[in-house]
Amino acid sequence: MYKIATIPGDGIGKEVMSSTIKVLQELSNKTKLSFQFLEYMAGDEHKVKTGIALPKETVLGVQNSDACLFAAVGDTAKEVIIPLRQRLNLYANLRPAKAYPGIKALKPDIDIMIVRENTEGIYKMIGSREKTWGINVRIITYEASERIVRYAFNYARENSRKKVTAVHKANVLDFTDNVFLEATRDVARDYPDIVYEEQIIDACAMKLVLMPENFDVIVTTNMFGDILSDETAGLIGGLGLTPSGNIGDNKAIFEPVHGSAPDIAGKGIANPIACILSSVMMLDWLGEKDDAKRLENAVLDVLKEGRIRTPDLGGTHKTRDMTDAIILNL
Ligand code: NAI
Ligand code: MG
Repeated sequence: MYKIATIPGDGIGKEVMSSTIKVLQELSNKTKLSFQFLEYMAGDEHKVKTGIALPKETVLGVQNSDACLFAAVGDTAKEVIIPLRQRLNLYANLRPAKAYPGIKALKPDIDIMIVRENTEGIYKMIGSREKTWGINVRIITYEASERIVRYAFNYARENSRKKVTAVHKANVLDFTDNVFLEATRDVARDYPDIVYEEQIIDACAMKLVLMPENFDVIVTTNMFGDILSDETAGLIGGLGLTPSGNIGDNKAIFEPVHGSAPDIAGKGIANPIACILSSVMMLDWLGEKDDAKRLENAVLDVLKEGRIRTPDLGGTHKTRDMTDAIILNL
């Protein structure tokens, strides 16, 4: 029995979470898997009610779970998901972008894994605000860089990937990104079987659009990874399809890349696939490889069939229709 902490959060977060739990429950009915879902509060609504966006019980709940599923919060993201990642030391943020069958991606052979450093950089939130100016401090350490780059190379090796691209801006941000690059070069020497290359962030952003098929694993610092992963989400059909994992040495939180989407919240039309694929990553991380594959295939079959499409994929179906179609394919 897996104890899964769930954090539905705000807006469509609640909608995609209830869809995902429903799918996981159906999966457990058909397999040996079993789950206990424990729901925890966090986000904008909770802050309005209690004055606190991330209550202590939620952090404890995640700490005491086998894994956590997080959907999305709104404007309190920086008070919720960023502290959760840092406090639990979930240093690797994995953000895959794959061209799916039946979905119009920019190129058919896109299969990129972004490995984003998740604990430092400009997201340390150290700085100050004066009336007419503000400052945010960007901290890059050799230790965190080495750890994330090693994670990326190990990931590449274990998943038969051929190349790791380190993305940086050392030409301008020389104090910080030269530390990152020193770490990437040191680690790369230990992996002669994997091709290593470096790209400057702005050129990389362009090449991702022109030649996305040339990328394999990308490793980068916190904010660059945040931005590039929304770009790669765009390459494969949008945020409705992109899952992620925040992974530490023995804890992990899985979440769709998207936010609370206030523009469509409450309409029942959010695409639950990003959250459901995040639960696939969770099953995989828990070591339930076969059931992860089974659930992933159920999702891919729905995409391939093309009958059910939420509005972000060009259709008129509801969250509920997509959920039912996936369950039917399990
Ligand atoms: P967003 O990801 O919520 O939405 C961007 C666009 O993509 C919107 O047009 C939205 O309708 C669409 N979209 C996103 N997910 C979708 C889905 N599952 N199905 C269909 N369409 C989908 O990003 P935005 O609008 O920049 O931010 C909205 C709020 O979310 C903000 O308050 C922001 O702080 C928060 N946010 C929270 C995150 C988190 O909890 N990890 C991550 C990103 C944003
Ligand atoms: Mg983002």
